[in-house]
Amino acid sequence: MSVIPASVVRNVEVVARPRRCGRVSNMVGLRVDVEGVEGAVGDGLKIFHRAGVLDAEVVAANSSGLVCAPLGELAGVRVGDPAEALGRPFAVQVGEELLGRVLDGFGNPIDGGAPVAGADELAIHGNPPPPLERDLIEEQLALGIRSIDTVVPCGKGQRLGIFAGSGVGKSSLLSMIMRGTSAAVSVLALVGERGREVNEFIHRDLGKAGLSRSVVVVATSDKPAMLRLRAAFTAVRIAEWFRDQGLDVLFMMDSLTRFAMAQREVGLAAGEPPATRGYPPSVFSLMPRLLERAGVAARGSITGLYTVLVEGDDLNEPISDAARAILDGHVVLSRRLANAGHYPAVEVLESLSRVEPAIASTDQRLAAQALRSVLAAYREARDLVEIGAYVRGSNAAVDRALDLQDRIEAFLTQDIFEVASIEKSKAALIALMMGDEGAGGSDEGRSSDGGKALLTAGQPVAELVAGAGAGR
Ligand SMILES: Nc1ncnc2c1ncn2[C@@H]1O[C@H](COP(=O)(O)OP(=O)(O)O)[C@@H](O)[C@H]1O
Ligand SMILES: [Mg+2]
Repeated sequence: MSVIPASVVRNVEVVARPRRCGRVSNMVGLRVDVEGVEGAVGDGLKIFHRAGVLDAEVVAANSSGLVCAPLGELAGVRVGDPAEALGRPFAVQVGEELLGRVLDGFGNPIDGGAPVAGADELAIHGNPPPPLERDLIEEQLALGIRSIDTVVPCGKGQRLGIFAGSGVGKSSLLSMIMRGTSAAVSVLALVGERGREVNEFIHRDLGKAGLSRSVVVVATSDKPAMLRLRAAFTAVRIAEWFRDQGLDVLFMMDSLTRFAMAQREVGLAAGEPPATRGYPPSVFSLMPRLLERAGVAARGSITGLYTVLVEGDDLNEPISDAARAILDGHVVLSRRLANAGHYPAVEVLESLSRVEPAIASTDQRLAAQALRSVLAAYREARDLVEIGAYVRGSNAAVDRALDLQDRIEAFLTQDIFEVASIEKSKAALIALMMGDEGAGGSDEGRSSDGGKALLTAGQPVAELVAGAGAGR
């Protein structure tokens, strides 16, 4: 039996472990080449230079060495500076201590509060739940937004895209969701935003109430591309830790487009060819790697909301194309509605949840379908109505749309600080579209008439839905 205490043996092992050191051989743009050391893609590396230590991550390797992307400023680094390979990916701190905190891409607090103490450290690259061990999505997660909870219901473990142009209300919508969701914990990754936007978001939109059950991870647009990517993965890893405690976690990313742009920078710098619209192939393999981390696990779930920037009617935009293919649904926000002061600017007719049949009751689905029908009928006739050329009585569906217009508008709009309970929202929509019988109570959400039948004639839903086919 050894007389040397175990703790000493451990220390000796750490000290005696060979340190794998190489040297910086080349630097161009966002790329640092390191020779004389081994490493796998995804491994961390520390470069020691005059002004301090720079973290970098291996993104490619070739016969002469490693190609790395810096996680900080390259200023001060010289060819020949020593670089130590960690032999593993970087770790991230996780734990309950993170609730209510704002972190940088490394996971360190930037909110001026105390350092995070006592948290666990995990490798940043977790694994998604294996396909056959994933539970099915069959329960709804309340987001606290009337229009979304009723018409684009989001399932626990689902991945929804929020597609919109800039300034249409994506960030405001996320802040409303963070305050209103029934998820136990929300984790938000703010990737590639401007610094001013981040500050406004945290202090003005989110507020203390929104932050208390949340963790926010920020990498602004001025940060190196690799750090912006890393912020996204840090946030997912934190979400996974909360999920592993058996909780329903809401993971949000603003924006997926800027995440893809960061990978474009990293990929091109590492020597990948630009393929689709300047995006190298790795962008399209990295997106599913991030998005697949959401889902229903054996314990707990991660529901993912990802904002996607769409400008104009650019249908060939490769990122929104790729996102649509991976995600299980999308909420489209339109500038038309935002300009009209209709917030949240959810374009109901263009939004869709692919898991709706599995999570919504029949009444709920029929009511949602009836609402779509009325909106579709109105859309068809809008031009005529607006120039005053529509004659009442010429189309029953349009007449109905005109009758309900104000109430539908009141139902679909929501003040940024209003939290809508999902039960009330559902009952209000059923009452609105199906008359009192379907309302299941007099609780009416926000309408002012205290739960009276909102439908003039109580037209059967089946009829409405049938009538809608013509309108669409
Ligand atoms: N629910 C809302 N109620 C009132 N105004 C809103 C609402 N949502 C967004 N806005 C307005 O739209 C502006 C842009 O919203 P923001 O969420 O920052 O857009 P994006 O993130 O899409 O660029 C806000 O500054 C605010 O004036
Ligand atoms: Mg924004």
